[in-house]
Parts: sequence; structure tokens; C-alpha cells
Amino acid sequence: MKKIVIFASGSGSNAENIILHFKNNQKADVVAVLTNNAKAKVIERAENHGVSAIVFDKAELADGTVSRKVNELQPDLIVLAGFLLMFPNEIIENYTDKVINIHPALLPKYGGKGMYGMKVHQTVLDNKDAETGITIHYVNEKYDEGAIIFQATTSIEDCTVPEEIAEKVHELEYRHFPEVIEKLLSH
Ligand code: GAR
Repeated sequence: MKKIVIFASGSGSNAENIILHFKNNQKADVVAVLTNNAKAKVIERAENHGVSAIVFDKAELADGTVSRKVNELQPDLIVLAGFLLMFPNEIIENYTDKVINIHPALLPKYGGKGMYGMKVHQTVLDNKDAETGITIHYVNEKYDEGAIIFQATTSIEDCTVPEEIAEKVHELEYRHFPEVIEKLLSH
């Protein structure tokens, strides 16, 4: 059984969707959710499905504690699903092409430090774009600049507030992220 480790900082609806997908098909298992936010809803979501949630702080991310924890878990894939801190180089180097992230826009547009969640959707709306989408990409040492694995788009011409865009983007994420993960694990 292949092992997935998820990093998330907030609500964790994607994390939960991935956990449920693999509970249903037995091709892989989410073995842990790691979070830098002790108040994140993702903790409850993971534990509700019997997946252990591990909380760490910024210092532990920098000093190698989190990296050692990941090594103990021996993941085949590390999935960032709404993880908002810079990911440590040490883990990226130890897990070449095994760390992926989802971004709620069509990179290379609307990426970089500070571009997450509603901020991305508000910027897309301000620019009057006709469409937006999701990008699943490998993680490297720069925010949102790793090689792109998958993108999907949606029309947002009917959206007038960022929350409507967020809903459309989340739908795309729920539909595609587990499938892309499954494909990567089957190689
Ligand atoms: C998702 O839309 C994800 O694409 C985005 O945060 C949201 C997390 O939602 N990630 C970023 O913005 C990363 N730059 P969730 O916690 O409900 O899965």
C-alpha cells in the first residue's frame, strides 16, 4: 500500500476529500496530516476519519524536526493541500518529485508569496479574467514555481464576488486532485 502524507494549514476540505477517496479505493492510504496550525479545522477532519494529525510549529519546520517525522512516516507522496508556509528544502531534496502542491489559480498567473485562498480569487476578480482554474505542481524551493503536472479551468464570467470563484475552484479541486495523486502513485 502506497503512503500519502498531507500538509495543510486551515480548513482541510481538500485533505478530507483525499482521505475519503483513498479510503474507498485501497490504492493508497493517507497515513498522517501535518499542520502548523493548532486551531486548524483539518485536525478534526483527519481524526474523524481515523487519520492522525500532527501539529508542529515554525521552529520545528526549520530545525529538521518535521523532516525527521516525515522520514519516520516513509511517504511515497507528500501532498500540500492549503499549506501556507514555505516548505523546507531538506524535505524537497529528500523526496525528489514526491512533493506536490495545489494552487487555486492558473499558474504562472497569481502565484508567489502571500497569494493564497481568497486573496487569489479577489485578484482574479479585480483583473476581470473570464476564466480561472487550478494548478497541481511539483514543489521546489520557490513559491509556486515547480513544474506543472495538471491544470483545469472554469469560466467565471458569471461570478461577482470572490466566494463564488472559490466555490468553482474548490469543485475543480475536489474533482481532480485525488485522481492526479492516484495517477502519480501508479507510476
Ligand atoms: C485550496 O483552494 C488550495 O488550492 C489553496 O488553499 C485552499 C485550501 O482549502 N492553496 C493555496 O492557496 C496555496 N497557495 P482547504 O483547506 O479547504 O482544502
